[in-house]
Amino acid sequence: MLYIGVDLGTSSVKLVLMDETGKIHGTTSREYKLYFPQPGWSEQNPADWYNEAIAGLKDLLKDVDKSEVAGISFGGQMHGLVILDENDEVIRPAILWNDGRTQKQVDYLNNEIGKETLSKYTANIAFAGFTAPKILWVKENEPENFKKIKKIMLPKDYLAYKLSGTFCTDYSDASGMLLLDVKNRKWSKEMCDICGITEDMLPKLFDSFEKVGELKHDLAAELGLRDGVVIAAGAGDNAAAAVGTGTVGNNKCNISLGTSGTIFMSSDSFAVDSNNALHSFDHADGHFHLMGCMLSAASCNKWWMDEILKTKDYADEQKGIDKLGENHVFFLPYLMGERSPWNNPNARATFTGITMDTTREDMTQAVLEGVAFATRDMYEVAKSIGVAPKRTMICGGGAKSPLWRRMIANILNVEVDVPSCEEGPGMGGAMLAMVACGAYKSVEEAAAAIVKVDKTEKPDPELVAKYEARYQQFKTIYPALAETFDKII
Ligand code: XUL
Repeated sequence: MLYIGVDLGTSSVKLVLMDETGKIHGTTSREYKLYFPQPGWSEQNPADWYNEAIAGLKDLLKDVDKSEVAGISFGGQMHGLVILDENDEVIRPAILWNDGRTQKQVDYLNNEIGKETLSKYTANIAFAGFTAPKILWVKENEPENFKKIKKIMLPKDYLAYKLSGTFCTDYSDASGMLLLDVKNRKWSKEMCDICGITEDMLPKLFDSFEKVGELKHDLAAELGLRDGVVIAAGAGDNAAAAVGTGTVGNNKCNISLGTSGTIFMSSDSFAVDSNNALHSFDHADGHFHLMGCMLSAASCNKWWMDEILKTKDYADEQKGIDKLGENHVFFLPYLMGERSPWNNPNARATFTGITMDTTREDMTQAVLEGVAFATRDMYEVAKSIGVAPKRTMICGGGAKSPLWRRMIANILNVEVDVPSCEEGPGMGGAMLAMVACGAYKSVEEAAAAIVKVDKTEKPDPELVAKYEARYQQFKTIYPALAETFDKII
């Protein structure tokens, strides 16, 4: 049978068609617009997601035996606020995970409600990108819109709703709303009260690998699919990507270099970082994970290549970089502010240490290294609470660069496993659909059967030592600038 994974990303929707052996039968992607209506704001139109997903499905299914398609599931950009009125119309554009407008609401939640209380209710504190502060923002700034809210959902849940008619979400994605009691896997009544909403505005909770419904009859007919195609709940994109790299069960790690950058540590048991710098979320395998998230990762390189160097040949720009560990130029990768570990939407990107002999290659190297150093910052937080994986999987667009993988291995001093098939959250989505359709008994079983390691990047002790010295320098830059960032905003 065939299974479709839909990765609802920030720049595009990517679809993958797989069978239960993990063989890929097709992929496609379609871009949509990202709007920055004010500095630090980030929005998208849910209608664009839906229209492009349907166009993508048609494209994906062009030359395949459609009667073989058994299930569809999702990996979706997390935290985005999608609100619908009584007619199921989208009330305003979705406010995305990398939107920084909610500092006032975050301060209210973290300082007046209090971090300890939030952590007791949800296992997490407030970050600007999380959903609950956005609900408060709409309540304060757009009271007319707030009054109209009948349904609150996350980006991929909007697709599941349009495809199946079921108002649903899954525990992994719901964890990032700051409305879920992550430990006990239920909506927090207290958080609903704090946000001025009622539980009936929130979707029904499912495990990521559970069937939530079937593809609507008219859509199935339009796509040429049979009736009864299973729609599974799916997961937040990081949990779905983790499924796709086999980061399930206990003590596994995955680093994702996508638009955002994450370090994701799966665990059988519930745990909270006492400083709440790492998110404590439910996982798509039915257990838990800790995660750090930086808001700009591969997007830093994309910005540097597309906007500044004006080139599309990313690999060519990396060819001349041969002095690893010796760069005097540093780059802080905070193009959209920063979440982990600083929780500061006012943080900004900078180059530091430029001299007359600085080259184009040095600057490109600094951008790549800056992202790797910032990943190390998150890894250090994990180490400080006793979670110190010595090896990790890697995925996301940035992971395709051998140079970037080498930097990650040596800057974190971990072995980096590269999966033989990397289709990111879409692949995880397809695997979740397989479990929902009964092809596998559990997510762990699906991962064991499907995920293979192609090669491993091992740290080189000499380079690790050089990078250690550089990291100690990098670490001093943000604290020295933090106050300035608040002033120049
Ligand atoms: C995770 C996060 C990002 C988005 C990217 O907390 O905000 O990784 O999910 O799509």
